[in-house]
Amino acid sequence: MKAEGIKMEKLAQRYEGKAKKVYDTTDHNYYWIEYKDDATAFNGQKRGTIEAKGVVNNKMSALLFEYLENNGIETHFVKLLSDREQIVRRLDMIPLEIVVRNVVAGSLSQRVGKEEGYVLKKPVFELYYKDDELGDPMVNDSHALALGWATRRQLDDMQDMALRVNELMRALWEKAGITLVDYKLEFGVWEGHVLLGDEISPDTCRFWDRETGEKLDKDRFRRDLGNVEEAYAEVYRRLREALDNV
Ligand code: TMP
Ligand code: ASP
Repeated sequence: MKAEGIKMEKLAQRYEGKAKKVYDTTDHNYYWIEYKDDATAFNGQKRGTIEAKGVVNNKMSALLFEYLENNGIETHFVKLLSDREQIVRRLDMIPLEIVVRNVVAGSLSQRVGKEEGYVLKKPVFELYYKDDELGDPMVNDSHALALGWATRRQLDDMQDMALRVNELMRALWEKAGITLVDYKLEFGVWEGHVLLGDEISPDTCRFWDRETGEKLDKDRFRRDLGNVEEAYAEVYRRLREALDNV
C-alpha cells in the first residue's frame, strides 16, 4: 500500500482530540493529522503542555509505522508531511484499546498487587472500551462480541497483529537500549481488513532505560518526575540510531 503520487488538500477540521487534530482532505479515503503539544493524563483530569511533544510523536509514529510496514504489519500510515503533520488512511475505528504488557507497571501493578518491574512470563493482552465518559473500562472478548464492537475475526486479527508488533517492537527497542514495558494500540477497518491505527509514541508506551531503569515516557508527566521534554527527545534520538543499525 504505497502512497506515492497521492495528491490532496487539507479541508475543514473534523475532530480535535486530546493530542491530535484530524482534518478531512480532498480525498475521502484519507485524513490529515496534526500532532499537538497538549498533554493529558488520568482521563483528562491532569492537563499540561510538553514542548515539542507533537513533533516527537508525529515523527516517531511515522518511523515506527514504516518499520512495522516493512516487516509485514499493515498500518494506516501513508506519508509524513512536516514536523507535526502526516497523512493516514481513514479507518473505521474499532472502539477498543489493546494494551500489551511485557513488564508489570501502572494499572496492572495496582490491579494485581505486583511491584512495577516484575518481568511477565509471557506478554499480557488487555482490552479497554474507548469511552472517555466511562473512563475507558477494561472489557474482554465476550463483551466486544456481545456488544458488537468487533467480530471474532477482527479480534483474532488484532491479537495476532499485536503479538507480531510486540516481537518487532521489542527487538527494535532493545537495540535502542530501552525496555519496552507496555503500550497501547488501536485498530480500524480499511477495505474490509484490520489495520493498525492511531499513534505509537512516548504518550502511548512505557520506555525504561535498560541500564538505569530511568523512565523515558509520559510517566514523567503523569508522575511529575521532571525532564519530560528531555525524555521525549532522548527516546526519539535513540530510536533513529537503532533504525540506522537495523
Ligand atoms: P496503564 O498501566 O495505565 O493501564 O497503561 C498501560 C499502557 O497504555 C501505558 O504504556 C500507557 C498506555 N495508555 C495509553 O496510551 N492511553 C491511555 O489512556 C492509558 C490509560 C494508557
Ligand atoms: N491519555 C489519557 C488521558 O488523557 C490517559 C493517559 O495517558 O494517562 O487522559
